[in-house]
Amino acid sequence: MLNQAAALLGGQRDLVANAANLSALLFHALDRVNWAGFYFLKHGELVVGPFQGKPACVTIPLGRGVCGTAAVTRQVQRVDDVHDFPGHIACDVESRSEIVVPLIAGDALLGVLDVDSPVPGRFDQRDEELLIEIAGLFVRSVDWP
Ligand code: SME
Repeated sequence: MLNQAAALLGGQRDLVANAANLSALLFHALDRVNWAGFYFLKHGELVVGPFQGKPACVTIPLGRGVCGTAAVTRQVQRVDDVHDFPGHIACDVESRSEIVVPLIAGDALLGVLDVDSPVPGRFDQRDEELLIEIAGLFVRSVDWP
């Protein structure tokens, strides 16, 4: 999938184009996934970007939910059961596990990459490593505004 992502992002530096195509690739290439996409940091909060899945919360305050926690801590959040995560924001009630990777360029936080699954414990260490690589590819593929 890393090769597919590199090919998909290689020819284009537009933020929306690459975020849209990458969310589609993740959604269709990963099994047992019900949401895959982006939140971008705008005016001090996370605002939903291109994604695949059911309509999502439009904004998430920094520090709130799994996404806001990943943004503030700048650490990957891999949650086996979202019901056990204090402050989890349920956009799609089917979501049971979730992984959120912060998007960072230099010392700037740009947003987060979020993938949800209806299956508890869906994401393992290998998924985490893959998504970290893909997030890095994405960050480097785009001319940030
Ligand atoms: N569950 C996330 C909110 C975003 S949606 O899952 C798409 C959270 O707790 O941050």
